[in-house]
Amino acid sequence: MDSKVTLHDKTFKLFIPNKDIEKAIDAVAERLNADYADATDQDPVVLLCTLNGAIIFAAELLKRLNFPLILKACKLSSYQGTQSTGYIKTEVPLPAHLEGRRVIIVEDIVDTGNTIVVMKDLLQAAKVRDSKVCTLLVKPEVYKKDVKLDYVAMEIPNRFIVGFGLDYDELGRNIKDVYVLDE
Ligand code: IMP
Ligand code: MG
Repeated sequence: MDSKVTLHDKTFKLFIPNKDIEKAIDAVAERLNADYADATDQDPVVLLCTLNGAIIFAAELLKRLNFPLILKACKLSSYQGTQSTGYIKTEVPLPAHLEGRRVIIVEDIVDTGNTIVVMKDLLQAAKVRDSKVCTLLVKPEVYKKDVKLDYVAMEIPNRFIVGFGLDYDELGRNIKDVYVLDE
């Protein structure tokens, strides 16, 4: 792992090594396995991966979850460059047939929470039985919404990060570790 990487016009430095991320995912997966042990093949849990950022987190979770589940995806987007625009676009709509299902929203990071609030509303409108939020990262200094973040792998300060699925204008998702903007 290099200690610095450059993406577009910005330089990032190593922030969270891959093995620490994986350890945090182990702990979240253990909680999910305990909480959803009652799922059955007739009543599987829907793991709703939010594209594209949560792809790697969702894959790592999948390898560790041992209850019946269905994998689905959708895509909302709010970020441009290193800033949230506050305006949410639906790029891939929610999957059909969610009515009556238990859903776990798998997010890469909760920042302002605008995305997660919209996602919760969409799921309620789709008449799901229950929805929970499972996020790899949260920035507690920024997140002030009422939506409960049920499963959080790691908390980070209010800094812009990339890697492990997260991007800076689409680059950096394939970096194994998490890097932070070097200011
Ligand atoms: P929110 O709607 O402000 O909570 O932003 C959530 C989305 O913004 C995440 O799913 C990410 O795609 C993106 N995002 C937020 N913070 C970062 C960051 O530090 N690096 C890269 N993307 C981020
Ligand atoms: Mg993004």
